[in-house]
Amino acid sequence: MQTVRWVIERDQAAADHPAVLRAAQVIRLGGLVAFPTETVYGLGANALDARAVAGIYRAKQRPLNDPLIVHVASPADVEALADLSGLRERAQALIARFWPGPLTLVLPRRPALPALVSAGLDTVAVRMPNHPVALALIRASGVPLAAPSANRFGHVSPTTAQHVLDDLDGHIDAVLDGGPTTIGVESTVLDLTCDPPRILRPGGVTREQLQAILPGVLPIAPVVAAAGQAMPSPGTSPVHYAPRARLIICRDTGELLRRREACLAQGRSVGLLLRADQRAACQACHPYFMLGDGLDEVARNLYAGLRALDALGVDDILVTAVPREGLGEAIADRLARAAAKTQD
Ligand code: TXA
Ligand code: MG
Repeated sequence: MQTVRWVIERDQAAADHPAVLRAAQVIRLGGLVAFPTETVYGLGANALDARAVAGIYRAKQRPLNDPLIVHVASPADVEALADLSGLRERAQALIARFWPGPLTLVLPRRPALPALVSAGLDTVAVRMPNHPVALALIRASGVPLAAPSANRFGHVSPTTAQHVLDDLDGHIDAVLDGGPTTIGVESTVLDLTCDPPRILRPGGVTREQLQAILPGVLPIAPVVAAAGQAMPSPGTSPVHYAPRARLIICRDTGELLRRREACLAQGRSVGLLLRADQRAACQACHPYFMLGDGLDEVARNLYAGLRALDALGVDDILVTAVPREGLGEAIADRLARAAAKTQD
């Protein structure tokens, strides 16, 4: 299969833009189109078409027990996918505050939605992305889009169209290239079907922000799936978000420099993921990738950094831990999972 790349400026995005119209036609015919959201690129298919949804799992080599997020272009579209009775007030308060945006709500699934979207669970994960290209594509398609991150299963999520092609070229119909994503880590997944609601995956909306609306929200808990069963949120499994290289998380810059020397002494090649304030102390260390300053920039650049150092073929990637506060919770979560995978 030939994968087409359509470039579209985010401020040109509209449901009647030629690239969006062509992409929407592919979706309506049951094809697969990758598109930008504010978090990471998604791999979209018509959520109401079980065959199209099956194509997503195939292209990503994603296990069938790993449910997908359904993307909508308006809060009103949730009602057709999920049964809000009993939790309407909570859902609406969260939607009013955070949509469009990086919050995914896990809700009771309406039976009309193909079970494959939810990997057979009786719930469905829904979000309204805050990106003009994503919203234009959903509107032009006229259907909700099932869309996981547009990477090979288990790999680092894509934050540019080139990342998507690096993983999926030849396996999907098209990618809408709307430039790099702005948040850089995935949405927060919040389970509203339990009481109190529980965070299944930390992401772009922070725990502190959620607790300001719903004070009882529970932080993430470890998830274990029985063989063959759908996992409540398999993004919480350590096989996710992993680069090829070994990732080592250090407490501070001093430890980072010591570990680097130790790895080099073993004949291993080392790349560093650095924050701006570490540059002076690490001036002589190459290669490195600059994550920038502050948690927003670190989140935005993290996956590009992991991919860039991986592409250089380093054996080890060293990075300093971030505080588990605000967006730091999502960053620390992804770093820990990437490190866990490679220590197996
Ligand atoms: O930011 C994002 O969420 C991106 C963009 C494209 O929207 N999407 C994304 O999708 O990260 P994916 O498939 O890579 O991760 C979806 C996460 C997984 O951890 C999955 O287990 C969880 O959401 N999930 C989906 N449906 C669920 C459900 N019914 N119950 C519990 N967790 C669910
Ligand atoms: Mg993913």
